[in-house]
Amino acid sequence: MGLSPGRGRPDSRRGRGPRERDRSAGPVALASFQACPVALDEPAVQETSERDVIPAGRPVPVPDWSGGPADGEPAGAGLLASAERFITQFHDENRAGPPDRRLRQVRREIEATGTYRHAPAELTFGARVAWRNSAKCIGRLYWHSLRVRDRREVTAAADIAAESVMHLREATNGGRIRPVMTVFAPDAPGRPGPRILNSELVRYAGHAAAGGGAVTGDPATAGVTRLARDLGWPGGEPPGRFDILPLIVQEAGSLPTLHELPADAVLEVPIRHPEFGWFADLQLRWYAVPVISDMYLEVGGIRYPAAPFNGWYMCTEIGSRDLGDTARYDQLPVIARQMGLSVASDRTLWKDKAITELNLAVLHSYAEAGVTISDHHTESVRFLQHVEREERQGRACPADWSWIVPPAASSATPVFHRTYRDFDQSPNFYRHRLAAALATAAPSGDGAAAAPPPSCPWPG
Ligand code: ARG
Repeated sequence: MGLSPGRGRPDSRRGRGPRERDRSAGPVALASFQACPVALDEPAVQETSERDVIPAGRPVPVPDWSGGPADGEPAGAGLLASAERFITQFHDENRAGPPDRRLRQVRREIEATGTYRHAPAELTFGARVAWRNSAKCIGRLYWHSLRVRDRREVTAAADIAAESVMHLREATNGGRIRPVMTVFAPDAPGRPGPRILNSELVRYAGHAAAGGGAVTGDPATAGVTRLARDLGWPGGEPPGRFDILPLIVQEAGSLPTLHELPADAVLEVPIRHPEFGWFADLQLRWYAVPVISDMYLEVGGIRYPAAPFNGWYMCTEIGSRDLGDTARYDQLPVIARQMGLSVASDRTLWKDKAITELNLAVLHSYAEAGVTISDHHTESVRFLQHVEREERQGRACPADWSWIVPPAASSATPVFHRTYRDFDQSPNFYRHRLAAALATAAPSGDGAAAAPPPSCPWPG
């Protein structure tokens, strides 16, 4: 499962393993609230269009997409052509013989129903190739190992939440992280599929202070935290820095509902440093598995609006970005001061030193906890191996330099020293437009997470 020996060590130092939080014991009731008003590392500059940004202080809009898929492009346009391309690709790559019979079947089904249903093997292949085609992901060497959980029959919000919890457990696997995707019901004519409004299944809340002021927790989730509050989420009282958000699930035509994650489904790792004893006192932590949940999977013209998927973390995602970014947990000044560095001048390179120690602490802590994580040097070498393998198969590998190149020690990694061709290929993943809006929604008041500049499509 893409696990290198020795990386996910479930048996290592169990006693100092990841802490499970002692929030209310056992599975928390999957509450529904009827109130209403969505190996990857992100580039520093997030793209988002101006209309995606919700102005500070406005309630977060939750659209009703019961009339059909939101986000613009109708799923039906070009469906037949997309289906034919995909079915042919499936047969070619899997040496499954001539596709003609299956193509005739698909054509008939589309004529009769306006859509078609993927065979289980087609869905698994489509999901894996969507990963292979993800130009921003450095971790694609193991694309073929993705486990696909076919849950296309699941549409009810409570069932989606329960299946998401099972996804988390299967992916976490006691620390030996497995790449997994769960595919829920697709959009169909007049019958849009369900959605998960959180950007990842596990995220920490970002609580905006009442009259403005700094966000407590993760400023990147201020928008979705506000939505959870609007929906009646009682958690985060008093606001903490690492409060796990409830899942927010929306069935087409219905109000979104809240679903707490059971405490024992979320593995977390307390961050410590191998040498600096004071590091533990910073009380930093992060969760084990990044399960992206705000992108839709597109396969052969069919859109699966809820298809959460995960790989394992690369240390820079947490160390350089989540905990290091000034618009996130902003820990570099804190760490530098503890290290006794002068932060008065950039020229002392205190940021460089602090970011390295933070990355080291993340790697060390995950390893000690027996949770799979990789470093940017290893992952860079693997990525070039992947590119080479793809080329040997006669396929070009689309890649976006600005996402592939790690944010720490960039020029010390081989992926920095070359260019790539970036192009869009189906199957693929695309971020829901609403998700972009939620991720960039500034909380009320002035201390909000700064909205990204109005020219870029990926939320933070
Ligand atoms: N960068 C995101 C985060 O820090 C996770 C994106 C997916 N990462 C991955 N390794 N599959 O939470």
